[in-house]
Amino acid sequence: MRIGVLTSGGDAPGMNAAIRALAKACAGAGHDVVGFVRGYHGLIGGETVPITLASVDGLSRHGGTVLGSARCKEFETASGQAAAAGRLAELGLDGLVVIGGNGSLTGAHALAPQTPCKVVGIPASIDNDVGHTSLAIGVDTAVNTIVDACDRISDTATAHRRVFVVEVMGRRCGFLAMRGGIAADADAILVPERGWTRTEIRQRCLALLERSFAPGRNKQRVLIIKAEGVPYDTRELVGDLQQALAPRGVDARETVLGHLVRGGSPSALDRLVAQRLAFAALHAIEDGATDVMVAWEPGDDVGAPTRDPSVRRVPLADVLTETERVLDGTSPVTRGRLALLDLADGLLAL
Ligand code: F6P
Repeated sequence: MRIGVLTSGGDAPGMNAAIRALAKACAGAGHDVVGFVRGYHGLIGGETVPITLASVDGLSRHGGTVLGSARCKEFETASGQAAAAGRLAELGLDGLVVIGGNGSLTGAHALAPQTPCKVVGIPASIDNDVGHTSLAIGVDTAVNTIVDACDRISDTATAHRRVFVVEVMGRRCGFLAMRGGIAADADAILVPERGWTRTEIRQRCLALLERSFAPGRNKQRVLIIKAEGVPYDTRELVGDLQQALAPRGVDARETVLGHLVRGGSPSALDRLVAQRLAFAALHAIEDGATDVMVAWEPGDDVGAPTRDPSVRRVPLADVLTETERVLDGTSPVTRGRLALLDLADGLLAL
């Protein structure tokens, strides 16, 4: 068989590990692999690079993606998708593996019915906002990077007895803030899923500061982790807190971690998830499955089992529906995350 692979959307640490594992699995089964450059752009334009065992040797430890990535507006149009389907036929591809987040998987779902080529998605996005997978490639590394950054910030915050608001990526999803904040000993975690208004956020933060700097409390630093999807500009929030802190002689500062969190060598867990999902993606193509995603431990009631007990095959239509629920808060997954955060909340601020 001839298999194509592309990485699309925001890059995520572990994408290279998936490319390497796919190349290995294809070589083992006697299939050819070809990579498309810069996601769907490369697919539409026919920009390919050969993927050989030599070219992927030792690749897993590198962040980013050797294929390049992009968010491709043209692919969202019917003509872009028709051009992509035409390119798959021209290149004689039997399967296409799409490694990316929600936008990329939406694209894969649109393309699948337009081509006899089997289209299989692998979830990769630091945001962990893809439905029906407990992890997407890149999430674990991003959480570890956040914790490392927050630890460093805590050192300087403690030295100066300061308040820090640290903003982390995640688009509409607060997962990175929740998990990173808990592991970094944050005093408060602000996520969009809670739906708090600016006034509520301000009041809660001010109450936290009141408790933290009460006489006799002797607290040396306050760390507030804020997800980027919270509708309160981080600098503005810090300015508002600073006003209340000024009489106490305490300073507040902000740090926006931004793209720092998306780079770096993938963690062992991200490499492992990437490798096993890539194997499962090839098996899906070999089995003739299309319009599906291979998912990491989504729950036994979701999709179909594969040869790997941690990986299940889920129709992309179901994935995209569940993604919307995760983001609008109606998914049990989001409700579960918020319930856990509620349990921790009172303790964080003690
Ligand atoms: O989806 C991954 C992500 O890093 C989000 O967390 C963030 O909102 C967005 O991509 C940033 O996109 P860009 O790199 O295009 O600015």
